[in-house]
Parts: sequence; structure tokens; C-alpha cells
Amino acid sequence: MKLDLRRATLDDLPDLLALEALFPGDRLSRRSLRRLLASPQTALCLVADDLGVLAGYGLVLLRRNSDVARLYSLVVRPELRGQGVGFRLVTSAMVAATELGRRRLRLEVRADNPPAIELYRRMGFRQVARIPEYYGDGETAIRFETQLNPSS
Ligand SMILES: CC(C)(COP(=O)(O)OP(=O)(O)OC[C@H]1O[C@@H](n2cnc3c(N)ncnc32)[C@H](O)[C@@H]1OP(=O)(O)O)[C@@H](O)C(=O)NCCC(=O)NCCS
Repeated sequence: MKLDLRRATLDDLPDLLALEALFPGDRLSRRSLRRLLASPQTALCLVADDLGVLAGYGLVLLRRNSDVARLYSLVVRPELRGQGVGFRLVTSAMVAATELGRRRLRLEVRADNPPAIELYRRMGFRQVARIPEYYGDGETAIRFETQLNPSS
């Protein structure tokens, strides 16, 4: 893999939708994703581009007047998992959110998703809440947060 971590453009929309469809659960619609891609002030969509093919993507939502950014979605193509793509996407999300003046990065993850939980723990996120019945199918969410350090 020769990964280029970059911001998504509208041209990435079909590939992003294909990746999103791989992830079971609450999906982003074409319309929402298109709207988010067109509003860089409220959404930061990062893709891991492997020579023109998307290996994965991460979506960070930004609210005005809030120092907390939210990692809303993170997906790596199944055949490329376990090779550091997720780690690089989350690292880029942290750097980009820091550059945009955010002080914390927050996310919710399903309690039955050990690979993702392990990834966030390994990256220094700490559990700040456990929210029963957060997801449509009744699954619990674990909320993680990490501090973003402007000087690093
Ligand atoms: C979660 C996900 C994004 C991880 O992406 P990835 O590219 O496979 O992760 P990486 O290779 O960067 O792994 C980084 C660390 O995460 C942890 N990890 C990743 N996959 C793991 C697994 N299957 N089991 C346990 N730990 C795992 C490990 O600590 C790993 O570090 P190591 O390789 O040094 O052991 C990927 O599995 C995925 O797309 N899952 C489906 C979508 C999803 O669940 N998204 C998260 C929603 S909150």
C-alpha cells in the first residue's frame, strides 16, 4: 500500500458511499454525505487513498463555538484491515481537528466492536461514558475522548 491521507472531495462520493455500505448499522445517506463534503466548516472528511483506490475514510464533525470535534465515522476496507490504515486515519483526524482549534476529539463506538475499541484505547482515548440502548438495535455505546494538544 502507498497511502496518501487527504481531504475528500465531491469526486470521492461514490467510493465513500461504497465504503459506508460495508459498515453495518446506521448509514450516512448519499444526500447527507454530499452535504457534508460541501461544507468543510462543519465536516472534515479524510480519506486514505491507495493509488486512486480508497482504503478507508474518517469523518469528523465540527460544531461552531465548540472545542470538541466528533469522530462520526471510520471505516477501512475489509481486506486492508490490520495494516495501520485506521491508525493513520485517526491520527490525521486528530491533527486536522487540532489545526482547526479543537481541544478534544470524541466518539461513540458500539460495545460489541472490540477491534475499534482496541484501536481507540491504543491511541490514548479514554472511556468517558457508557450509554445503554444508544444504537437502533439496542446496543450500548461507549463514548471515548482524547485531548488534542496544539503543541504536538
Ligand atoms: C476499526 C477499524 C477502523 C480499524 O482499522 P484498521 O485499519 O484495521 O486498524 P489498524 O490496522 O490501524 O490497527 C490499529 C490498532 O487497532 C487495534 N486493532 C485493529 N484491529 C483489531 C482487531 N481485529 N482486534 C483487536 N485489535 C485490533 C490494534 O490495537 C491495532 O494495533 P496493532 O496493529 O499494533 O495491534 C476497522 O476494523 C473497520 O473498518 N471496522 C469496521 C468499521 C468500524 O467498526 N468502525 C469504527 C466505528 S466507531
